[in-house]
Amino acid sequence: MSILSKHTIIEKSPMLLLVGSLLVVSVGGIVEIAPLFYLENTIEDVEGMRPYSPLELAGRDVYIREGCYVCHSQMIRPMRDEVERYGHYSLAAESKYDHPHQWGSKRTGPDLARVGGRYSDAWHVDHFTDPQSVVPESIMPKYAFLLDAKLDGEHIEDLLSTHRFVGVPYTDEMIAEARADFRVQANPDGDWDALVERYPGAVVSNFDGQPDLTEMDALIAYMQMLGTLVDFSTFTPDASR
Ligand code: HEC
Repeated sequence: MSILSKHTIIEKSPMLLLVGSLLVVSVGGIVEIAPLFYLENTIEDVEGMRPYSPLELAGRDVYIREGCYVCHSQMIRPMRDEVERYGHYSLAAESKYDHPHQWGSKRTGPDLARVGGRYSDAWHVDHFTDPQSVVPESIMPKYAFLLDAKLDGEHIEDLLSTHRFVGVPYTDEMIAEARADFRVQANPDGDWDALVERYPGAVVSNFDGQPDLTEMDALIAYMQMLGTLVDFSTFTPDASR
């Protein structure tokens, strides 16, 4: 009896085939996944990463609520066409404060991992209000209502505390100052030095051009920081990987 004909014994018994398949898949899975728990450099330490500022975090909530991830990914794969189009491939560390992550695999629209700074705030306002007004062939829906959705930051401390609970290193000070930081980031005339000290690289701007703080401000604050924190001129990939 050759080895192949012995295999028919397994194939003729559904139970045996099932158990055998599970065994093979488990061994394969363990070999692939288990080492990741022991590698110290699964997530390399990268300079510049910081938790989201309160306004950015609120904008990220709008992004999730509106299901932007249904059409947009936030992960640049390490392949030449991607890197030439979007910039440096995404690092694991760049989404270490994302709960949940927004990597995604659906790209009806472009990847947004490095959209920060690519367009002006005014472009974003026009684009979200009426995407076809700036990109005539766009199939992106309109989000003009965000301009009228006022934000008072009532629960912003709770939002930061929740993220701290799942591991984001927000300090007591960041949580205590959350509401002030939330407001001042959209007010360039305000006293935002402390905000930028707490959240280096935070963009301060009246994002939507209106006096009131709206979901549009928050969403654009989030857009403008995406992918901007790591300085890639000083980044060297870990050669031991
Ligand atoms: C139905 C799919 C769809 C949804 C939902 C969607 N978009 Fe888009 N988005 C697109 C398409 C297609 C484009 C490319 C054309 C354009 O610029 O409008 C785009 C472009 C963009 C751009 C410009 C990117 C670049 O590099 O040029 C940004 C920023 C953006 N979308 C943000 C968002 C945000 C934020 C949301 C959620 C509020 C969202 N999109 C929801 C389809 C979508």
